[in-house]
Amino acid sequence: MPASTLSCAVSGAEVMSASTYENIRYDKTNQVAFITIARPKVLNALNAPTLQELTRAFQAVRDDEDVRVAILTGEGEKAFVAGADINEFTALGAVGANALSARGHALFSLVENCGKPVIAAVNGFALGGGDELALSCTFRIASENARFGQPEIKLGIIPGYGGTQRLPRLIGKGRALQLILTGDMIKADEALRIGLVNEVVAAAELLPRAEALANKIIANAPLAARYAIQAVNQGMDMTLAEGLVHEAALFGLCFATADKNEGTGAFLEKRAPKFKGV
Ligand code: COA
Repeated sequence: MPASTLSCAVSGAEVMSASTYENIRYDKTNQVAFITIARPKVLNALNAPTLQELTRAFQAVRDDEDVRVAILTGEGEKAFVAGADINEFTALGAVGANALSARGHALFSLVENCGKPVIAAVNGFALGGGDELALSCTFRIASENARFGQPEIKLGIIPGYGGTQRLPRLIGKGRALQLILTGDMIKADEALRIGLVNEVVAAAELLPRAEALANKIIANAPLAARYAIQAVNQGMDMTLAEGLVHEAALFGLCFATADKNEGTGAFLEKRAPKFKGV
C-alpha cells in the first residue's frame, strides 16, 4: 500500500504486520514491539507518511494486549531521527505549519501516554523532531555515538513537536534554552550528565540493553506500570498537592487488581509472582 494512502482513521485495534509500513518497521517479539524508523537515506527524517505510520504503530502498541513494552530506534548506524523532513517545509505556510505541529503533538502525546513503557534506543543523531520524539518516550538510552540537539533556530524556526515544553521539564529551563537558542549538538556523555538520557552504552549493546530493560519491566505488573506512567505524566502538570491526590487515587486502583494480590501473596509465600495484567 503506498504510504500516501495510509490514514490515521484506521482502527487503533488493528495490529500491524511489517508489510503495511513503508517508512518504519514494526516487529513484535516476546511481548516487545520494536519500532524502527527506516528512512536511512535522509537520516530517518520524519515526513508526513512517517508520522502517519508512527501513529498507526503506537495505536497498535496501545491496543495490542500482547505488547508490554515498545522500543523505538532508527535504522542504520548514523541516525535515530535527524528531525522533521526539511523538504516538506519549503511549501508550508503558517496555517499548514500550525497543523503540522498539532499533528506531531498528537502523535508524540500518544507515544507518551500509550499506557505502555516506550524506550527510546537512540543510535545516532536525535535532532529537532528526533530529539522531541525521544523526549516523548518513557525514558531514553543512547549509544556512544548519539548526538542530541534542537537546531531549528538555524532554520529560522523554533521546535514544533513539543521541544519547548518537554525539554525544560526534563533537563531544566536554562539548559533547555541553551540548546534551543544555540542550536548546538551535544554528545551522548553530555546528554547523560544533564539527564537527557538515562544510560550510554556501546552501539552494539544498545538494543540488547533496551531489550534487557524491557524484560525487567515485563516481569512486573502491567497495570501497575500503566498507572505509574499515568501518575508521573499527569502529575507533572499538576501542583504537588493535586499530584499527591492523583497518586492516592491510582494507588487505590492498584488494590482493585488481582495482580496486587498475586504480587503481595508471592512475596509473603517467598515465590516469584505471575502477573496477569488484571
Ligand atoms: N530533513 C531532510 N533531509 C535530511 C535531514 C532532514 N532533517 N537531515 C538529513 N537529511 C538528508 C541530507 O539532506 C542528506 O541528503 P542527500 O544525501 O540527498 O544530500 C542526507 O540526509 C545525509 O545527510 P548529510 O547532511 O549529508 O549528513 P552529514 O553527516 O553531513 O550531517 C547532520 C548530518 C544531521 C548534521 C545534517 O544532516 C543536518 O544538519 N540535518 C538537519 C538537522 C536539522 O536541522 N533537524 C531539524 C529539522 S526541523
